[in-house]
Amino acid sequence: MRDDRTTDTATRRTEALDVLRSNRAEGYTIPSATLYPFQWNWDSAFIALGLAGVEPEAAKEELKSLCAATWENGLLPHIVFHTDAEGYFPGPEEWGVDVDGVATSGITQPPMVVPAARRVYEATGDDDFLDCVYPALERHLEWWVRERSFDDAVVYVRHPWETGMDDSPAWTEPLAAFDPGEVEYEREDRKSDELADQRPSDWDYDRYVSLVRSARAADWDERSLRESCPFLVEDALTNAIFVRACDDLAALSVARGDDTAATTWREQADRSREAIRDRLWDEESGTFVSYDRVGDRKLEANSVAGLAALFGEIPTNEQFERLRRTLRDDFFAHEFAVPSYVGEAFDPDRYWRGPVWINTNWLVADGLRRYGATDFADRIDRDSRRLVEREGFREYFNPETGAGRGSDRFSWSAALYLELTGDR
Ligand code: DGY
Repeated sequence: MRDDRTTDTATRRTEALDVLRSNRAEGYTIPSATLYPFQWNWDSAFIALGLAGVEPEAAKEELKSLCAATWENGLLPHIVFHTDAEGYFPGPEEWGVDVDGVATSGITQPPMVVPAARRVYEATGDDDFLDCVYPALERHLEWWVRERSFDDAVVYVRHPWETGMDDSPAWTEPLAAFDPGEVEYEREDRKSDELADQRPSDWDYDRYVSLVRSARAADWDERSLRESCPFLVEDALTNAIFVRACDDLAALSVARGDDTAATTWREQADRSREAIRDRLWDEESGTFVSYDRVGDRKLEANSVAGLAALFGEIPTNEQFERLRRTLRDDFFAHEFAVPSYVGEAFDPDRYWRGPVWINTNWLVADGLRRYGATDFADRIDRDSRRLVEREGFREYFNPETGAGRGSDRFSWSAALYLELTGDR
């Protein structure tokens, strides 16, 4: 008898590859043709992760092209504008940055590039690839410690876009605490009425744009921005990925026979883990939260960022038990796991204020397996597959109805579907 499930999966895998190939440009993949027509930092990392076992050459190219955009000081920009396609705001002229003839943004994103590079290296064993990307990866993590930490342990972001979770309700308080002034600009992201209701609000955009313009006016100087930027946040998700990146860079150092570097990065990971447990754990809500360095307070939002601490193996066993209860009681209460946020501002259709995203599902499931919680991890993977198989490779999904939201033919949903259904 025909196995329909297998046939469905095989068909979907073919479609996933088709999405990735059609979104591929020269050496990199755009997240989606409708909304994001350039190379995005953590998108490329998730795309490479998914391609590692299927099209390893494309996975290597993806990371090599991203690493090539690393600034001299080590910042890895969140967007690399390889082309001057129109229809995106804020485009290259808004940032005014040039790296060896290529325009980039002036902010970063969580350093998923390192875990992705480790995965690609382990899938290919290609030492030339490792030699090519390693210096940029190390320079980038050194930059986080040197330029983006008050204590050489916990790292901070200076723009909500740097967290990847742009309009998370966690950022409402720090964003409300400053006046963006009169900001003139024209948004390009509301391509339809439906999309307009799902994208961040104008209130958020005023502040996003104001933060970009004032950082540009400061010539992207991190030291001076540390004094003047009104948004400085130690984000739970960025820190979880940063710690995992340090562990993974240590593993890559071992592969290069560099034991001294391996020790340095292992020690960094341990130091960061300890400080994060101390500063970002919130006993009352049973999860990790972010910390506002300007307002000097915890940002108590129950979001998937707190659960992602598992990806960095941050929770102690005791914290893990509590976190698992939070996941079960607050997040599994919805039909589809894992909503990006559960709390008063929950909105099942709006960007990072409730919808399920395949990349954060992947991070949380990976972390749960590290703690031996395979039953919970399996539930999350099953929901990711169910959503994609029913709705296609959408950007995000309503956690109550499963309805696909945001753009369609979204690259990391396709790439991570390949990862979830491949030989793991
Ligand atoms: C966008 O344009 O919505 C991005 O999230 C910013 O990087």
